[in-house]
Amino acid sequence: MKSVLSSVVCRLSSVYMKGIILAGGTATRLFPLTATTSKQLLPIYDRQMIFYPLNLLVKAGIKEILVIVAPDFSGQYLNLLGSIFERTDIRLEFKVQTVPRGLADAFIVGEDFIDDDNVTMILGDNIFEDDLSREIKSFKSGSKVFAKKVQDPERFGVVKFDDNMKAEIIEEKPKKWISDYALTGLYVYDNRVIQASKEVKPSDRGEIEITELHNWYLDKDELEVAMVEGVWLDAGTFDALLDAGNIVKEKKLNENFDPRINQAIHEFNKELKALAKKRL
Ligand code: G1P
Repeated sequence: MKSVLSSVVCRLSSVYMKGIILAGGTATRLFPLTATTSKQLLPIYDRQMIFYPLNLLVKAGIKEILVIVAPDFSGQYLNLLGSIFERTDIRLEFKVQTVPRGLADAFIVGEDFIDDDNVTMILGDNIFEDDLSREIKSFKSGSKVFAKKVQDPERFGVVKFDDNMKAEIIEEKPKKWISDYALTGLYVYDNRVIQASKEVKPSDRGEIEITELHNWYLDKDELEVAMVEGVWLDAGTFDALLDAGNIVKEKKLNENFDPRINQAIHEFNKELKALAKKRL
């Protein structure tokens, strides 16, 4: 009896966090670059974009990560990431999202992977200067999202705060100004997010919007908003992509990687070089 009880206590006290990187979508704004590869495989200074969100999850102590990709370039993800973590304790899984049905669809596509655990999702084109590990590690239940003051809030999901800086209204790309605080592409949810995603009705553009998930938790008073202090980049346009590379170089964000990822990139590059030499 004692051992059964102690294992139950152990499971309850250690909240397990899984990670999802959403790298689906067609990225038409970056066409023709995205005619030959996926947006999240484009370079940000000296490495592929996907390594930045991957680094954020790994630094937060997350060891099981699902990468959701679009069908067209799924082989390129396997080539780049498929085996390079073999010698580490990081486990990557891949899933193809055949039709882009909105960000919240990731929790339906990833239902089996998430299982009974909590989940942190990051969009594959989001780069953060801040180390947000503590914010992710301290998550207990409900949901936690991350806001940043921006000059062009109409491009994002936006949160309006009341006088006590408590989230009041959340709206996706509001046509009429409600606030300057954009919600970034980093989201932490408890396991109920799977159910919530199934309950969300598709929007006018036929997608199940992440904003509706935020509202699902906000209605229950279970949504926490943390502030992002450093730079936040989403590399979704030519200018944003160029800026992201320059800012990463200037702030040396590429030097701030978890050693396991650096090692994996280094070994992969070494294998590529050896292969190229053989062909000569
Ligand atoms: C998505 C979300 C939006 C969020 C943004 C962050 O928008 O729908 O709420 O603010 O990511 O990058 P998208 O970039 O897919 O238009």
